[in-house]
Amino acid sequence: MSRIRQPELAAKVMTAEQAAALIRPGMTIGMSGFTGAGYPKAVPQALAAHMTAAHARGETFRVRVLTGASTAPELDGVLARADGLDLRLPYQSDPELRARVNRGEIDYLDIHLSHVAQYAWFGLFGKIDVAVIEATAIREDGRLVPSSSVGNNKTWLDLADKVIVEVNRWQPEALDGMHDVYYGTALPPHRKPIPLVNPDDRIGEPYLRCDPAKVVAVVETDAPDRNSPFAPIDETSKRIAGHLIDFFRHEIARGRLGPQLLPLQSGVGNIANAVLAGLREGGFRGLTAFTEVIQDGMLDLLADGVLKSASATSFSLSPAGIERFLADIAFFHERIVLRTQEISNHPELVRRLGCIAMNGMVEADIYGNVNSTHVAGTSVINGIGGSGDFARNGFMSCFLTPSMAKNGAVSCLVPMASHVDHTEHDVSVLVTEQGLADLRGLSPRQRARTIIANCAHPTYRPLLEDYVERANRDSKGKHTPHLLSEALSWHQRFLDTGDMRP
Ligand code: COA
Repeated sequence: MSRIRQPELAAKVMTAEQAAALIRPGMTIGMSGFTGAGYPKAVPQALAAHMTAAHARGETFRVRVLTGASTAPELDGVLARADGLDLRLPYQSDPELRARVNRGEIDYLDIHLSHVAQYAWFGLFGKIDVAVIEATAIREDGRLVPSSSVGNNKTWLDLADKVIVEVNRWQPEALDGMHDVYYGTALPPHRKPIPLVNPDDRIGEPYLRCDPAKVVAVVETDAPDRNSPFAPIDETSKRIAGHLIDFFRHEIARGRLGPQLLPLQSGVGNIANAVLAGLREGGFRGLTAFTEVIQDGMLDLLADGVLKSASATSFSLSPAGIERFLADIAFFHERIVLRTQEISNHPELVRRLGCIAMNGMVEADIYGNVNSTHVAGTSVINGIGGSGDFARNGFMSCFLTPSMAKNGAVSCLVPMASHVDHTEHDVSVLVTEQGLADLRGLSPRQRARTIIANCAHPTYRPLLEDYVERANRDSKGKHTPHLLSEALSWHQRFLDTGDMRP
């Protein structure tokens, strides 16, 4: 059966080059895409070619690109390389784009993922000229069957003047029905409670509404998502996961958590995968996930009954994960729901459900302020993503990292964080392979003692102890003692010598 089932839209099929020619310099474009899934595969590449040609003619051709989250080389990579981006938000992980952002060539707005849609509704990004959205199919009624991510697609489709739809034949048609698009959001003061009380509740409709009159092009593609393979879980990640799972057991024993814990939010990457694997080995069952991304580890947990359901806004599966998903798609269909990111990350829902947030970090300071985004305070790595949505509002906010980076040249526990994404007020638990610091109910000076004793690597522990001792003695204020002239000296030493050690 054709994937483009609405006659008016079927008549608008054209090449990616023709569709990209509808995009003009200076436009603001809302594109689909979240964590390397569901991004448009053809139009951005054709657009980059138009930009390169324009630049060769001595013309400037740059646009502003808004997405759900990170995409892939075929979107962020090509547009950055074509020098085609004036502004990018709200999250990226592309090496080429990152390098240009850190050279000051592209403005990058690093925004809480739950905030993007409402900022757009408030008009803070100006007019959205074009939406470029990947879909699995176009239904007879013109609504779109979303693909492997939902992200901000509803908002871009609602707000954009013109819409370009990429219909990707590679996306399994069996995704039909897995999505839940909620149309009940409003601007203040007209907001009503969002009627979601269980992580797997469906409160919307499975398709994206799309005004056929706004659609200016439909492009057919047959191209895979980014689908990076996962590295095998390393020993450090296993140890971090082990500490966290022991802690969950301790909390259950104390009666502060039930045997099913609370809905889990888990960041992406090796450590997150290790935590998921650890839950499985630890005999947990009947858990739920209310998170952003479904990665390979979650499929295993669903298959084993460790997880009974998972709510997210996107997949982020390796090629092996995709195969696994397709082989048992009917089973996963019943247990996974993909939502718009303003709902998957909504502070109201994260607070109501009492999520356990588990995210990676770059560094934390001795008082528990967490840096998730910047190396030495000035160079961004990826962005805050959804970590703040969950950390700020969850039942418990855990940040996980190896105690050292760069082969020991960097301590991930430092006197003062060189950039703060999550303040000490929003951080409950820090975990490294050395151990876990439960910061709840501790004063700043107690926090410093606990973090250094439990989380710092033995290489850096004496240096931190020495710093704290002198800060306690010489700091003017003794509530959060610091030696201001020295507090960021570790980072400066790293920039000067490549090593934080004296
Ligand atoms: N100082 C300097 N560099 C550091 C560092 C530190 N304290 N800690 C880590 N890094 C570097 C690593 O060396 C690595 O760089 P390399 O690739 O050049 O070697 C890079 O940062 C990534 O670190 P890695 O150990 O591979 O960790 P990760 O893949 O688990 O990523 C974050 C860690 C913090 C970058 C990642 O979790 C992130 O982007 N978080 C913010 C978004 C988020 O939390 N989203 C969650 C909701 S999905």
